[in-house]
Amino acid sequence: MSARACLTAALDAARDWHSALPAVSVFCPWPDDLKWADHSPTPGPAIALVQSNPGACIGAARPLLAALQAIAEDVEWRHSYTEDEVGRHFLDTFGWFELAGPTGHFITHQTRITVGYWGPGLNYPRHQHAPEELYTVVSGEAQFMADGEADCTLHTGDTRFHASNQPHAMITHASPVLTLVFWRGDGLADPPRMTT
Ligand SMILES: [Fe+2]
Repeated sequence: MSARACLTAALDAARDWHSALPAVSVFCPWPDDLKWADHSPTPGPAIALVQSNPGACIGAARPLLAALQAIAEDVEWRHSYTEDEVGRHFLDTFGWFELAGPTGHFITHQTRITVGYWGPGLNYPRHQHAPEELYTVVSGEAQFMADGEADCTLHTGDTRFHASNQPHAMITHASPVLTLVFWRGDGLADPPRMTT
C-alpha cells in the first residue's frame, strides 16, 4: 500500500475514534476541509518504539493503534523541544507528528490532530499554548497534571482537556503512552512553550 493510502487509512481510523469518544465529538466536529499534503517522512526514534512498545491497548483503540503503527515510517516526526529544555533521553524516546492541521499530512484550518509518543520514565515539563487541546490515550498510560486540577492517570480511551494557556505536564512511569490529540482555537500552528 502507498504511503498516501496508509495515511488515509489512519485518518479514517482517527475519524472512527473521534466518533467513538463522546468527549471528542463534543470538543470539535470532524473537519470537512481536509486536503492531502505531500510531506516527506522524517526519521525519528519514535518509529521503532511505536511499533515495538506502544503500551497496553484495548477495545476500539486497537484498529487506531494498528493504523498508527502502519504509518510510523511514513510521517514527518517532530520534536519541538531542545535538549536544554527536556534532555537527550527525552528526545531519544519521544516524537510527535501532525496527522491533520495547518501543517499536517492532511491540511485543515478547522482543527489540528496530532499523534504523540512518550517512552517510559519521561518527565514532560510544564508547558502551555494558546489553543485548547483534548488528549486521548490510544495505548499505554501516563500521569497528567494541570494547574488547578487534580493529577490523574489516563489509560486507553481516557481523555484530558487543557484550556488555553493552562500550564500542564505529564509523566510516564513503567509504561509508555501513545496519544491522539485534538486542538481548537487560535494559534493552531504555533509551538507550545515551556511555562516559566
Ligand atoms: Fe499541551
